[in-house]
Amino acid sequence: MGTKLEEATEIDAGGHPVVLGPNALRVLDRHLLAWAPSSVFVLGDENTLRHCLPELLGTVANLRSAETIAIAAGESSKSLPVCQRIWEHLAAHAADRGALIVALGGGVVTDVAGFIAATYKRGVRCVLVPTSLLGMVDAAIGGKTGIDLGGVKNTVGAFHDPLGVYVHVPFLKSLGKRELLNGVAEMIKHGLVQDASHYEAIRQASLHDLDALEPLIASSAAIKSAVVKDDPRESGARKLLNFGHTIGHGLEAFSWEGQQRNLQHGEAVAIGMVCEAWLSWRAGLLDRESNDLIAAHLRSLYKPFRLHGSEHHRVIELMRNDKKNHGGEFRFTLLTGIGSARVDVPVTAAQVHEALEHYRLLVKE
Ligand SMILES: NC(=O)c1ccc[n+]([C@@H]2O[C@H](COP(=O)([O-])OP(=O)(O)OC[C@H]3O[C@@H](n4cnc5c(N)ncnc54)[C@H](O)[C@@H]3O)[C@@H](O)[C@H]2O)c1
Repeated sequence: MGTKLEEATEIDAGGHPVVLGPNALRVLDRHLLAWAPSSVFVLGDENTLRHCLPELLGTVANLRSAETIAIAAGESSKSLPVCQRIWEHLAAHAADRGALIVALGGGVVTDVAGFIAATYKRGVRCVLVPTSLLGMVDAAIGGKTGIDLGGVKNTVGAFHDPLGVYVHVPFLKSLGKRELLNGVAEMIKHGLVQDASHYEAIRQASLHDLDALEPLIASSAAIKSAVVKDDPRESGARKLLNFGHTIGHGLEAFSWEGQQRNLQHGEAVAIGMVCEAWLSWRAGLLDRESNDLIAAHLRSLYKPFRLHGSEHHRVIELMRNDKKNHGGEFRFTLLTGIGSARVDVPVTAAQVHEALEHYRLLVKE
């Protein structure tokens, strides 16, 4: 066909490939022909259907006769009523076990589409086309799907690998700056726990330049893929990816309770990484210079979150609800250097309190 399809890279994430590069969508077009689904449904939210669907259909001719299913943008779509509506839509269109679901969106859309694919008719095939940075480097990779229940995230779900994840970086052109930084936090984490040169490249890069971002997205997707390939059912090695998330989750939940600004996931993880790098230093695992560099870098990218000393106990209480903690003790993934980490380090509530106090004083300056 004349197009250089080799201009796409395939990364092995264990249960599925991640296809990246200028021709990722053309590769998807070719794969669709080979899979020969009985029917195809493209699931997106109002933003991704407006900003990304025209380009998807412009390149992937084999999707032009697909049915489109729209859900509302935002976390509230990861719900049972939304799933019921999609299951009913599929049934009304006589979708059988040969059907294919194509997710076009951020982590919300890929989580919902994956869950629908895992459950409809006891499982149909799906393909994920992430359109947010967080989706490209994290949410779409690894086969975890799920929806929320009673305000608790990802309570109901399944592992269901897609046939493939197709990453087309130009989709990020329409993504807002705050959303972009949300994904950058996970990329920084990938570098910090696994690859010092990746971290340094992110620190030096102009993050709003998509050409500069593209190779960094490929490196981050490769790090996430390697980790999930090692630990497909989340029994051990994936804990490496928890760095910044133990305190981050507590802060995220806390910010949604109070009067002040709500933190996005990546913003909370960025603060979590400042606190947890400091805990790593206090535990004698990380040198002071690296801790200071990480804190200064994260503070240059993310706005400060004002905490009162009296609020630390509530953040710690919310951390206790986190599924990652066992009994009364916290188990952290801490840094042993820039580019390496240790999982399951025991940390007391008093030490978490100190780390939050450290952050509070840092942003008060
Ligand atoms: N399954 C997993 O392994 C995994 C991992 C991490 C996160 N997640 C889940 O991912 C979700 C968060 O993902 P997210 O940050 O991508 O959120 P999201 O899907 O809500 O997307 C963020 C916002 O950006 C918009 N958007 C997406 N792509 C766009 C584009 N190209 N142009 C314009 N607007 C665009 C969306 O409409 C939405 O308003 C959470 O529900 C989280 O639980 C899942």
